[in-house]
Amino acid sequence: MKVTTIVGARPQFVKAAPVSRALAARGVAEALVHTGQHYDPQLSDVFFEQLKLRQPDHHLGVGSAAHGAQTGRMLEAIESVLTAGRPDWVLVYGDTNSTLAGALAAVKLGIPIAHVEAGLRSFNRAMPEEINRVVADHLSALLLCPTEAAVRNLAAEGITRGVHLVGDVMYDSVLYNTRLAEQAPSPLKAMGLAERGYYLATLHRPANTDDPARLSRLMAMLGGLDAPVVLPLHPRTARALATAEIAVSPGQLRATPPASYLDMLTLERHARGIITDSGGVQKEAYFFGVPCITLRAETEWVETVEAGWNTLVDCDAERFRAAVDEVARWTGDAAPFGKGATSRRDLYGDGHAAEAIVEILLDTSRH
Ligand code: UD1
Repeated sequence: MKVTTIVGARPQFVKAAPVSRALAARGVAEALVHTGQHYDPQLSDVFFEQLKLRQPDHHLGVGSAAHGAQTGRMLEAIESVLTAGRPDWVLVYGDTNSTLAGALAAVKLGIPIAHVEAGLRSFNRAMPEEINRVVADHLSALLLCPTEAAVRNLAAEGITRGVHLVGDVMYDSVLYNTRLAEQAPSPLKAMGLAERGYYLATLHRPANTDDPARLSRLMAMLGGLDAPVVLPLHPRTARALATAEIAVSPGQLRATPPASYLDMLTLERHARGIITDSGGVQKEAYFFGVPCITLRAETEWVETVEAGWNTLVDCDAERFRAAVDEVARWTGDAAPFGKGATSRRDLYGDGHAAEAIVEILLDTSRH
């Protein structure tokens, strides 16, 4: 069996690493294609190094562009790679433009697609990711779901064949890498931060960065906290702040370059609270038992909210303040935003999602 994996953006390197390891362990040949959607060393090379991903077999060097142009360039280049390699499966991850291009290229060539992290929905089609994931799911032969909610979402769209609940490969990755992160030099020390003495924030969704009034409100909210707020800046956000001439470090806010994966895990694990608009970071907060405040109106990871570990405040300063007060009062005995809810359950599998995915691929290929 031959598999071609398509990745291109930072979270996809994290998701592909455990699956690549599991494929290698079962002797499956894998060709790795990097679309080049993320190309800054801090968003790409550092992740390959730390995750011990081998160098891509094909680097398409597509880079940044408007969504149509970027996806179109990827589509053309991926088609050439797949035509030459004729894999038995194409593996795509998550919901980026690289996912969409990989899925479209494969389906047009009649190569079956396995979609890792299938079935997620925000039910907000203004998000580019929502379009990407809906299309990828409807084109895929294997839908590898991280959560029960994802399986239900697919069923609601009439997709029941090829659907498997496997758990979350990001959880696999966190379990595997937390030990390595502990052994690495501590970013807390370098920044003079005390455990539980700071907040960690990330902000990169177009809905938050591309409207200067909204971005300015969010930065003021973050800058108004009574403890340091570490904000590793995505290049899109850095550019939006510069263009709109919004201060990057009001109050206690400490903007930094993008964090490496291992530094991010350590910063997340020891934060008093995490404030984010990223999907992956909401889950990582849950894995580490750190309260999460989400700067969006909806989330794909509904179970973190239902369990009382995540709260959605959108861009509302009052709701944000109330959530921060709850985090400050939180003693760790019950879920921070739960009504007396208790400890965390394994909502995202048992840390062996990657192995489960590879067994399903092998099994499906035999029939
Ligand atoms: C992409 C994904 C998003 C994911 C995020 C993870 C899509 C539609 N979005 O968003 O789902 O959460 O990755 O980080 O695929 N840029 C650089 N250097 C880089 C890459 C990008 O400076 O290496 C800048 C460019 O100005 C670019 C902008 O960031 O225009 C946005 O990059 P893009 O790849 O379009 O989307 P992300 O916002 O990174």
